Amino acid sequence: MFDPEPYPERPPVYVCNCFAVTEEDVRRHMADGACTPRRIASACKAGTDCGSCVRRIQALLARTALHREYESGAENLDEVA
Ligand code: FES
Repeated sequence: MFDPEPYPERPPVYVCNCFAVTEEDVRRHMADGACTPRRIASACKAGTDCGSCVRRIQALLARTALHREYESGAENLDEVA
């Protein structure tokens, strides 16, 4: 029988290797109100060492904002992006 969820626990996807911060961690900080890379850094230090993760954090923030606007029914998503 087909099991749609063969791996119930997905391995964490690391965004910041310097501080072992995962996408899940970043999303949780976003849900708590962190809306800029600087605020994410204040919450978990992600992006404050080598900085190579900052673009990925920016992309997560942008994608989440875009998704929220889409779900809220925004008509012109170009203004959000
Ligand atoms: S990978 Fe995030 S600060 Fe280095």
